[in-house]
Amino acid sequence: MSLTHKISIIGGGGNVGAAVAFALVVMQEPVEILLVDVDEKLAEGQALDIRDAAHLSTAHCRAVKFEEVGNSDIIVITAGARQEPGEPRSNLIDRNYKVLESIFSKIQPIKPSAIIIMVSNPVDVLTSIAQKLSGLPKSQVIGSGTFLDSGRLRNYLSRKIDVNPSSIHASMLGEHGDSQFVGWSVATIAGTPLLENPLMANVDLDEIEQAIANQAYEIIEAKGSTYFGVGYHVATLVKCILENGRRIYPICNYSAKYDTYLSLPAIVGSEGATPVTLKLSQDEELKLESCANNTKAHL
Ligand code: LAC
Repeated sequence: MSLTHKISIIGGGGNVGAAVAFALVVMQEPVEILLVDVDEKLAEGQALDIRDAAHLSTAHCRAVKFEEVGNSDIIVITAGARQEPGEPRSNLIDRNYKVLESIFSKIQPIKPSAIIIMVSNPVDVLTSIAQKLSGLPKSQVIGSGTFLDSGRLRNYLSRKIDVNPSSIHASMLGEHGDSQFVGWSVATIAGTPLLENPLMANVDLDEIEQAIANQAYEIIEAKGSTYFGVGYHVATLVKCILENGRRIYPICNYSAKYDTYLSLPAIVGSEGATPVTLKLSQDEELKLESCANNTKAHL
């Protein structure tokens, strides 16, 4: 079977990048996965290990140098410093800005139709920076944003109301950071407002936002870093782009209204992200504006 597309994962030697690659192999995506890392030996080792899982898959995985990235259809960027226990994602901006500048100095020229998926943190700020450094249209540069947080929210609610997460349409919005919030006013179950459903009668809403925002801290405290959750969600974005799935996911995408990148629902397909108009409550709009100001303050 001919491999249809090239997916570069910059930072592919690290756990997050390798988790994205492994998830794509398990999803049987017919893609060529190119692992790139400043630690070339680590990238080679990850590729060899992942290839052992790929023999029943249609994916192929190999380690390459930065110079081979520009011709990729999708470029996933997971490289950079990661949070220490208790450290907010925003602390990483200066170090990871420099990492991004170094990456883009080595991968140009980038294929004009390429889609960039930022994963490194703080992902909303870095997605905005990646778009500027890449020169690609805003719609073609996205970030994993609160896609992972929204998965965490649906899992949390699923355990509380005993409904499958795929039937709970609720998202974390704003930023993949401490200011993220639940978009309660646009959350639904069986086509009705989630908060009006009797299933939610005994659910403590105050604790939910905190629980979801704290999930990464809890995992990092226990095992040093997170990678399976974000790896799966990023691979799901890659799959949706490759098949022009046109699914609506809460990801980091450009908001014309706030003139910056925010984590909001967008239609994800082969052209990248198409924003979806949301009718949020006044309080949620204020939270969104605060997230936008946070992001713009770092640019
Ligand atoms: C997390 C990292 C990806 O939330 O920011 O697990």
